[in-house]
Amino acid sequence: MCLKLLPASLSSRVKALKVLAEPDLIRHHTRKWLLNSQSIGFVPTMGALHEGHLELVRQARKENDQVVVSIYVNPLQFGPQEDFSKYPRTLVADLALLEKEKVGLVFTPSDKEMYPEGFSTTVKVTGSLVKGLCAAYRPGHFDGVSTVVAKLLGAVYPTRLYLGQKDSQQAAMLRQMILDLDLGVETVICPIVREYDGLAMSSRNKRLTLEGRKIAPILYKALKVGKSVYELGEVETANVLSEIKKVIQEEKKVKLQYLEAVDSKTLAPVERIEKGTMLALAAFIDEVRLIDNIVI
Ligand code: PAJ
Repeated sequence: MCLKLLPASLSSRVKALKVLAEPDLIRHHTRKWLLNSQSIGFVPTMGALHEGHLELVRQARKENDQVVVSIYVNPLQFGPQEDFSKYPRTLVADLALLEKEKVGLVFTPSDKEMYPEGFSTTVKVTGSLVKGLCAAYRPGHFDGVSTVVAKLLGAVYPTRLYLGQKDSQQAAMLRQMILDLDLGVETVICPIVREYDGLAMSSRNKRLTLEGRKIAPILYKALKVGKSVYELGEVETANVLSEIKKVIQEEKKVKLQYLEAVDSKTLAPVERIEKGTMLALAAFIDEVRLIDNIVI
């Protein structure tokens, strides 16, 4: 077992897990599994794991012989004004959770492993999938995500990649990248896991103040109001979005960044709401950026 990045006190606590930092070592294991005709489910994460991540892991376990999870806070996908330095890092707790889920292999690369001196390649998905929604407010973000996930897929070479619907634009974009580059990996998109009060689980929820955490469920509540308004017969996008905004404006602490109605497959904006429309939003509470969506 290679535990290069872990303190000695931790290495004894995660015996059942293989925690590897080098892509070559990961490849060594996964190639062996593939030669033995074993399927591999892969869950890429940035750590600070919660039930949303763990559901992806469980789904991967159900559908594959082996499961690999990566934990890497990818600097390439954070803008200069974003929360890279504040992003929660909880490796010890993460590994304990993954051990409980009986994950065999965890990939924890360092920046040096991922982006050594001379690194010069960017994977960039273009087109309508990366025009609106988060892409409009986070320039370069999705290039950082596609580049790191292409690298992770190169190291792990999984049979299936597990992604969450919570980051719907990310999932759609990565599925397109895999198709376009003939990477031969099946993309599995799993439903959003929510807290008891409807708030979509997110590593960033940990950064909310007590008061912010109390009001954060309003985002999902507002999206549900939008869905109900549609179900009661309103199909004009502008009217449905306006009802959603009214709910959000009840809370002064919530700063809405965007609210859009898009086709859930193409992510193109729609003028009329119909089955398959996704209502998606991003908002700041306590300067923490939260996203959520609902598909009608
Ligand atoms: P991270 O935010 O850690 O999320 C890892 C995976 O967990 C993503 O596919 C995300 O959509 C999924 N996820 C997060 N919260 C969820 C929830 N409440 N319900 C269901 N799934 C949820 O997304 C990233 O990391 C990074 O961009 C990454 C893909 C790892 C590339 O760096």
